[in-house]
Amino acid sequence: MPNNLLAGKKGIIFGALDENSIAWKVAERCVEEGASITLTNAPVAMRFGQIKDLAEKLNAEIIPADATSMEDLENLFTKSMEILGGKVDFVLHSIGMSINVRKGKEYTDLNHDWMQKTFDVSAISFHKMMQVMWKLDAINDWGSILALTYIAAQRTFPDYNEMAESKALLESFARSFGYHFGMRNKVRVNTISQSPTMTTAGSGVKGFTEFFGYADKMSPLGNAPAETCADYCVSLFSDLTKMVTMQNLYHDGGFSNMGMNPAVLGL
Ligand SMILES: NC(=O)c1ccc[n+]([C@@H]2O[C@H](COP(=O)([O-])OP(=O)(O)OC[C@H]3O[C@@H](n4cnc5c(N)ncnc54)[C@H](O)[C@@H]3O)[C@@H](O)[C@H]2O)c1
Repeated sequence: MPNNLLAGKKGIIFGALDENSIAWKVAERCVEEGASITLTNAPVAMRFGQIKDLAEKLNAEIIPADATSMEDLENLFTKSMEILGGKVDFVLHSIGMSINVRKGKEYTDLNHDWMQKTFDVSAISFHKMMQVMWKLDAINDWGSILALTYIAAQRTFPDYNEMAESKALLESFARSFGYHFGMRNKVRVNTISQSPTMTTAGSGVKGFTEFFGYADKMSPLGNAPAETCADYCVSLFSDLTKMVTMQNLYHDGGFSNMGMNPAVLGL
């Protein structure tokens, strides 16, 4: 139910590919709550994804940007400020990609060029995005920056591969840039650690369907779906969470604090 929590706010949503994407649901909820947004994704996603349908539905413009390119990011923020009529109030980084995962490489036999690519796309892009915002002074005071992450940054999930290190790096960038943005602009920077979710990126991980069921049973509330992740993002973009920053926030139905759940063993 909409409550106008983002009335008058402007934002940029990275990473909506198709209607399963977490970013897709976040974009829908933000607009429902009164925000004006621009959408962005890698140029290749324009051809394979359905982002144009979302843009039409939400009356939002799409500005393609490869999140690893500083030039693309500068263009994205400059154009977004033109279209939205000023600095933004919130940004969602919802980007992940690993060729090693896609090709089913074992952790003990990774291609390190691909690993570098994973880090660049999935984590360093977050630093690049924030550095561009910093230099262009593109975010209003008390704004909110969010990225999506996964608990493999803290615990071992073997098939998540080098995405685990990538998420650890991403979460660290949130803390470090959170300090700088907080001191200069009172802007908050957080990561949301989301349950396994049936999306293109998620289901690329080996054994994902079985693991999805395991995590669902292990979590007292069950796996958190993309829709409630979108609700959580709205709360963190809203003025109700102004003093929350530099945090990694679990949105996982309780999974992260479980040791053992008899339900997993069928007891
Ligand atoms: N699905 C899950 O189980 C799960 C769990 C926890 C966290 N996450 C995280 O949520 C985020 C969103 O993933 P999703 O599950 O919605 O999958 P998704 O595949 O729908 O989204 C990933 C997005 O990254 C974009 N992307 C890839 N390379 C890019 C580049 N160079 N520049 C710009 N964009 C690029 C893709 O086009 C796509 O839109 C990711 O950070 C992912 O790691 C997902």
